[in-house]
Amino acid sequence: MSKATKKAAPAAHPEIKPGQSIELLKALHILTRDGALNQDSRRKLKQVYHLTQFIEPLIEQARAANNGGLYLVDHGAGKSYLGFILYDLYIKQNPQGAVVAGVETRQDLTDKSQTLAEHLGFAAGMQFINLPVAQATEHPDLPETVDIVTALHACNTATDDAIAFGLKKQARYMALVPCCQAEVASKLRETKSLMLGKTPLVELWRHPIHTREFGSQLTNVLRCLQLEAHGYRVTVTELVGWEHSMKNELIIAKKHQRGNRKAARQLHDMLDTLGLSLLKDRFFVPNFENTSESE
Ligand SMILES: C[S@@+](CC[C@H](N)C(=O)[O-])C[C@H]1O[C@@H](n2cnc3c(N)ncnc32)[C@H](O)[C@@H]1O
Repeated sequence: MSKATKKAAPAAHPEIKPGQSIELLKALHILTRDGALNQDSRRKLKQVYHLTQFIEPLIEQARAANNGGLYLVDHGAGKSYLGFILYDLYIKQNPQGAVVAGVETRQDLTDKSQTLAEHLGFAAGMQFINLPVAQATEHPDLPETVDIVTALHACNTATDDAIAFGLKKQARYMALVPCCQAEVASKLRETKSLMLGKTPLVELWRHPIHTREFGSQLTNVLRCLQLEAHGYRVTVTELVGWEHSMKNELIIAKKHQRGNRKAARQLHDMLDTLGLSLLKDRFFVPNFENTSESE
């Protein structure tokens, strides 16, 4: 056997799935240039699979409900590795009618992703939009409705903008791994002196480190309630194995009803109780007047 054939073919790695693009894994630095998988990249690949296993059934269900069509938009896409892996694993075998789009503010990253998609032959089903998430809702290249919204560590309020995008576009599913969000903590800070003496709950954020930590947890609680108010069933789990980030909360939301009045009321009550009524625009809820949505 020659030296070249002796070298383990990358496809022989048990972690690499049949048909998975070796070129892509190299471009994402999961495989080294010579196709090897070291301990670090093995862990990275495990993390990626851990996340994509939650999204695969959403893709299948959306396509089944949609005559095979799919529109998935990944917000704060960065190098678009989530979009690329999803396209490679679950879409390229049957690409008809499916689009995976990435929204990203850095043009160097959208340009690179476009080049990589062309190189891999994925360009017909992938789209890279150089735009802040908040402007994506009105972008003419994106359709009126989409099936899936993802946002993986999209910075600060980009996750909230992704949720607003998903609500406007009537997304069936959203998969969100939020990054740190500074807005809620900064509002807690602003109203702290006003709230002292008004409620013992202020102890939850009286000390600066608690303001930040409580603000971060509260942000995700408010996001979940907002999604529920808009008729989504929400599950929150830990994205295990994502050691490189402190932000490991995975929120999966599935639309199952038009809206939920009780969740909307709870969201507004929480904001009022915590002195955050000013955030009602950020965490907007449906208008339930003259409707008989679920209690
Ligand atoms: C921490 S990185 C995550 C990238 C990718 N999702 C990942 O997990 O590898 C966050 C990315 O979001 C982009 N970003 C931040 N705010 C944004 C916004 N408002 N709209 C679009 N992209 C944004 C940044 O440029 C950066 O590439």
